Amino acid sequence: MRPKFLLAATFVALLSAFVAVNRIRHPPRASHVDHLGRFEAIPIEGAVGPESFAFDPLGGGPYTGVSDGRIIKWQQDERRWINFSRTSPERDDCGGHRDHDQMEHVCGRPLGLRFDVTTGDLYIADAYMGLLVVDPSGDMPTQVATQAQGLPFGFTNGLDIDPRNGAVYFSDSSTQYQRRSYLSVIISGDKTGRLMKYDPETKQVTVLLSDLSFPNGVVLSENGDYILVAETTHCRIMRYWLETSNAGNFEVFAQLPGFPDNIHRSPRGGYWVAMHSRRGRLLEWVLAYPSMGNALLKLPFNIMKAYSYLAKWRGSGLAIRLSEQGEILEMLEDRNENNWGSVSEAKERDGTLWMGSVNMPFAGKYKI
Ligand SMILES: *[C@@H]1O[C@H](CO)[C@@H](O)[C@H](O)[C@H]1NC(C)=O
Repeated sequence: MRPKFLLAATFVALLSAFVAVNRIRHPPRASHVDHLGRFEAIPIEGAVGPESFAFDPLGGGPYTGVSDGRIIKWQQDERRWINFSRTSPERDDCGGHRDHDQMEHVCGRPLGLRFDVTTGDLYIADAYMGLLVVDPSGDMPTQVATQAQGLPFGFTNGLDIDPRNGAVYFSDSSTQYQRRSYLSVIISGDKTGRLMKYDPETKQVTVLLSDLSFPNGVVLSENGDYILVAETTHCRIMRYWLETSNAGNFEVFAQLPGFPDNIHRSPRGGYWVAMHSRRGRLLEWVLAYPSMGNALLKLPFNIMKAYSYLAKWRGSGLAIRLSEQGEILEMLEDRNENNWGSVSEAKERDGTLWMGSVNMPFAGKYKI
């Protein structure tokens, strides 16, 4: 019993360190603008968690994937969301105010979104359905890849598209753990993540990198000579060279103070990295001893339940803009004012930063 008790105590301490303790915050019910007028929360109906944003080639949107498997589109002129598509044909048990986490393997959970600027098709990395593509009408998407080298994807997550040839670069965060157990990917020290490339001409998937620790957001450089991939467990951004004499090199691009999620190029140069939460000391310690993480996972209680309970006291939202050299240029942190938490996305467009999250019931708009 004693070792178990010790583990349980450590686990609780670990969670409190992981989720920076804060006062309980209530999500805004209606569209909310903060006192400085810089932040606006746009509520989402019937679901939560706008994980990433994409604008279509005509500038419409943004589009975002939410917890019940829908992809919705923001109509700026009407100031409302409309339904665009969904990643599963199954819709019967997907709507309403249920716990969407429990149904996402059936209903789908769209994460990374990017438009092919030439065809106007939207590519979707769905955590459970793999890589999909939908035409501009928003009809039922087509699954284009669900496995590579005989190994099925477990947690398809981020993607980017090379506008020169339509090649899609995407990540599978783990073949062992599903999205709803994302904390287990970190705690167990899982290294089954992969970075892949889908060629729409040949319809072939190539594995570029394997044995990654929670690969998450991906982004190509401006001229496509390298790709950045967030390695969430290690709180860092890695760079993989695709072209030039460096091709094939894989190196650390930036070490960060928290767990990175999606990455986007900023129109002002460099890259916006969204951060789920800050890195706690105890978690750092556990990560140094993977056997400890594995022992924690064997404890007789639901790790995700405990985590989501503690997640009510969220750490403050965070986004960082990195230079082309990986240095921190800007850092945005919510000091309890705007209810941000678990930031998954920071996408800059026309002087506005669209902020996404895996569990908040709104999309955030921040005037830069
Ligand atoms: C979008 O779809 C949801 C779920 O199917 C539905 O409840 C909602 O009314 C639809 N919204 C609009 C604006 O059509």
